[in-house]
Amino acid sequence: MKEKKVLITGGVSGIGRSMAALFASHGAEILLLDINAKGLDETAFSLKAKGAAVSTYQCDLSNSEDIYRCTELIKNEHKFIDVLINNAGVVSGKNVSELTDQDIEMTISINLLAHFRLIKSFLPGMIERNSGHIVTISSAGGMIGTAGLVDYAASKFAVFGLDESLRADFHKKKLNINTTVVCPFYINTGMFDGVKTRFSFLLPILDLEKTAARIVKAVIKKKKRLYMPWIVYLIPVFRLMPVPMMDFFARFLGVHDTMNEFKGRKNV
Ligand SMILES: NC(=O)c1ccc[n+]([C@@H]2O[C@H](COP(=O)([O-])OP(=O)(O)OC[C@H]3O[C@@H](n4cnc5c(N)ncnc54)[C@H](OP(=O)(O)O)[C@@H]3O)[C@@H](O)[C@H]2O)c1
Repeated sequence: MKEKKVLITGGVSGIGRSMAALFASHGAEILLLDINAKGLDETAFSLKAKGAAVSTYQCDLSNSEDIYRCTELIKNEHKFIDVLINNAGVVSGKNVSELTDQDIEMTISINLLAHFRLIKSFLPGMIERNSGHIVTISSAGGMIGTAGLVDYAASKFAVFGLDESLRADFHKKKLNINTTVVCPFYINTGMFDGVKTRFSFLLPILDLEKTAARIVKAVIKKKKRLYMPWIVYLIPVFRLMPVPMMDFFARFLGVHDTMNEFKGRKNV
């Protein structure tokens, strides 16, 4: 990763912040993009104190104009990036009947449309250099529907498909651009505060630092996908079952009760 330019959205909190520190420790130059100005200053300060090269960009990923303003600024200052990590995400945690149009638009714009807008901004540079890596932070909730997560799951299923189609596209066009999709179960970052798991030996709440370390390792090794914990790799097998059986297993594992006591970081 030495001197590679790594752009991380949502880079000042949770796994974004931990990944930034880890990529920096591997010698990468870090570009942090986030809505949180104070968090950007604090994260940049702590990374620079360890000798990292860091640039910060305040940007509201729910606003297309702000995204394109920001990506133009990044291209003016850095010309290109090597790794784009579409990590920023939000969760409303509301039942579908409570969701306002605004809630749905917020979730879809940050968790899905922003991915497209950043890819549209940086892919031409990657194609020109025939080099690059696009990392999509989806979720285990992007592989199996979950009660109480309708808007979130819709956005995460969508970016899962975005990654898979991008991979096929790059292969077809013989482009040397890598993709990695990451689908973790819940992580103790605060985003999903209050969620519960029924069988923690099968579906543990993941540790923030370990999760970030596994993602960084997967990117360095150019792994195409990373699911956590291991049982998430079985979801495609569950999907081969008749629907009532698949739904029974998901209910038995407590998947649809995980959100019962959701508090979250804040409502979007
Ligand atoms: N945590 C989990 O259990 C879990 C599980 C599976 C997948 N994931 C996915 O992993 C990714 C990171 O999750 P996390 O838990 O690390 O989240 P997090 O700690 O809440 O961090 C998300 C970051 O994105 C920023 N952000 C939110 N809205 C934004 C906007 N409109 N424009 C720019 N930045 C914005 C947040 O800023 P503010 O704090 O200022 O809003 C925050 O810094 C997300 O895509 C999430 O869906 C998380």
